[in-house]
Amino acid sequence: MANTINGFSKLSKHDKIKWISNTYFNNNQDVIEIIEQYWNSDQELQKLHDEFIENTITNFYLPFGVAPNFKINEKWYTIPMVIEESSVVAAAAKAAKFWSERGGFKTTILGTEKIGQVHFIYKGHIDLLTQFINTIQHKFYEDTAPITQNMQKRGGGIKNIELRDKTTDIENYYQLHVTFETKDSMGANFINSCLEQIAKTLKNEAMQYSNFSEKEKAIDVIMSILSNYVPNCVVRAEVSCPIEDLKGKDIKDPQLFAEKFVQAVRIAEVEPYRAVTHNKGVMNGVDAVVLATGNDFRAIEAGVHAYASRNGRYSSLSHASIENGQFKFWIDLPLALGTVGGLTSLHPMVKVALTMLQNPSATELMQVIAVAGLAQNFAAVKSLTTTGIQQGHMKMHLMNILNQFKATDAERAKVVAHFEKNVVSHSAVVELLESLRK
Ligand code: MEV
Repeated sequence: MANTINGFSKLSKHDKIKWISNTYFNNNQDVIEIIEQYWNSDQELQKLHDEFIENTITNFYLPFGVAPNFKINEKWYTIPMVIEESSVVAAAAKAAKFWSERGGFKTTILGTEKIGQVHFIYKGHIDLLTQFINTIQHKFYEDTAPITQNMQKRGGGIKNIELRDKTTDIENYYQLHVTFETKDSMGANFINSCLEQIAKTLKNEAMQYSNFSEKEKAIDVIMSILSNYVPNCVVRAEVSCPIEDLKGKDIKDPQLFAEKFVQAVRIAEVEPYRAVTHNKGVMNGVDAVVLATGNDFRAIEAGVHAYASRNGRYSSLSHASIENGQFKFWIDLPLALGTVGGLTSLHPMVKVALTMLQNPSATELMQVIAVAGLAQNFAAVKSLTTTGIQQGHMKMHLMNILNQFKATDAERAKVVAHFEKNVVSHSAVVELLESLRK
């Protein structure tokens, strides 16, 4: 059977599903049922979700969990997290409690600058181009005024437009490197609209610039687009306490713990193989809150990993030190976020998440998300350097295995009780279930 189709987007939702069932499931009715059982009975709500993207056929559930007891700059938060990995929310909640008893998390905004670029080709002398850009600078601001007016009222707008010579990388290649402040919006649409206008102005003004020859007038704009690399839109989150205060249920020897922890972070600083996994632990926390608050996790991921490589080698996002008997653990994260616009006003669960966070500004959300990343990283490195990661992971994963084998409530109770004292492994759970079922 042919598995290509013309005009798929014009089919009704049900017909799209039927086509999928026919093409890939031998016309099996069960698959239609599986797909349609995730439709929401509230038709208006379903329509809202259908229209987020093209060719929606159903919804894809992910758990929306919460991690309470986060003390950040003396304020308490319950952090919403959307994630499928079983141990993440539990680890966040544990780290939150641990640090709430040791002074809480502290955060600082280091910058809020966003970047966009107009990439273009100019065949002429750089001095003449510089003179031209200086002459028309004011036109860029005037022509974008209808777009920037509202943003300016909120204290944002275009902060700087700089000509950059990139001809050592590509012949005749230049950029207008534009800096923006977008306040509480992530600003992608705002930035891209401004850039496209700036590109138009650049081309039009070049055509009329009498000092340019015909060749110089023919500026060729290649593209105009924001950058998801935001090394000056950065938040710092940190925790610190006297080493002896680290003592707790799982930390019997705080000095040894602190030293091993710092050593583990140093390894992630110098060893890219470890750094990637270390940072993945950070992103477990970051992405979960980014998703729950309706932000663009692909943009965040791309920007964060570029930042982790900014010194030429991929390295740890977090750092730790011991100084004068004080343990300190901190992270700097580039986070371009919004708390207005985009999905934030459309998705009902995003509204719930933002309300739960007490309607944060974008900078406050940066702080909360950096804390979620640091907490997650702390929990992972703490486990790795003490009990090992599998103990906690497999405890949480136990539920997935029980679900996979459709365990009854009675079986669940027995299995969970057994693994309070025994090491969880997939085969051990299956074996126990089988023996209970005999
Ligand atoms: C698993 O999702 C994340 C960890 O691998 C992070 C780390 O190794 O630091 C536990």
